[in-house]
Amino acid sequence: MKVVRTVSGMRSARRLMAGPVGFVPTMGFLHAGHISLVKQSRKDNASTIVSIFVNPTQFGPKEDFEKYPRDEERDLAMLGKAGADVVFMPAANEMYPQGFHTWVEVKGITERLEGAVRPGHFKGVATVCHKLFNIVQPDKAYFGQKDAQQVRVIQKMVADLNMDLEIVCLPTLRQADGLAMSSRNAYLNTAQRKAATVLYRALLKAKEMRQAGEHDSETIRRAMMEMIQAEPLAKIDYVSIADTISLQELEQIHSQALVSLAVRFGKTRLIDNIVLT
Ligand code: PAJ
Repeated sequence: MKVVRTVSGMRSARRLMAGPVGFVPTMGFLHAGHISLVKQSRKDNASTIVSIFVNPTQFGPKEDFEKYPRDEERDLAMLGKAGADVVFMPAANEMYPQGFHTWVEVKGITERLEGAVRPGHFKGVATVCHKLFNIVQPDKAYFGQKDAQQVRVIQKMVADLNMDLEIVCLPTLRQADGLAMSSRNAYLNTAQRKAATVLYRALLKAKEMRQAGEHDSETIRRAMMEMIQAEPLAKIDYVSIADTISLQELEQIHSQALVSLAVRFGKTRLIDNIVLT
């Protein structure tokens, strides 16, 4: 496995790689969720590139950029074992040299959910993914359903800008008790970690109610919120039931719906979602 830290080094490595090439962008502090994307890429492609870059432009001024967890050695060991061919790990000034002034902004779907609570977040995500796609030149790029809105934003950018790659979305990997794997779970203390299982329990409640024939979003949302509010360590940012494509809130559920939520435990903000079919 080759580790590359410069854009020119990545381009040279890419020229030597057998295609098709799969790409998994990450911010590191890897877990089994990230590794599932790498493994699928290995199945689908002749070569796999993984990037590790904690992208400063997608963090708000009051967010956790400085203390975002990092462990380069452990990440590289995991990627070696998972069979990645090249790891691209640029420094911040390699991706954003002085004078950087070009941004990619997807309108519409970025104004809701995570975008409403984290202004500028998706501008940072779209810009860095566009840059990474230009540098890595993948045939396919792999994303997790865990960040459902992020996948929609990237798919929209790729379609609108005629970018020549396929975006693949893979299921959310969970711990045995249902908590979605996330690098940010490392922030939780024991009590918060236990309380955080309420996220998935609330999502399952929505699924159960829908399966029992409930169509009304507000009824389901209220039941979910009551369940989360019963957990004293949890503070709700939002609970949403939205159209899976437009991400517009739904009053009634007739076909597919994206049920998503963001909840704070102390300073740690967790997100999760499921799709009702
Ligand atoms: P990061 O949070 O490191 O996630 C990298 C990829 O792993 C994303 O596509 C995310 O959806 C996926 N992922 C995270 N948790 C997962 C889980 N439990 N199961 C399956 N997949 C999971 O998302 C980012 O980084 C950044 O925004 C990035 C796209 C790299 C741009 O900076």
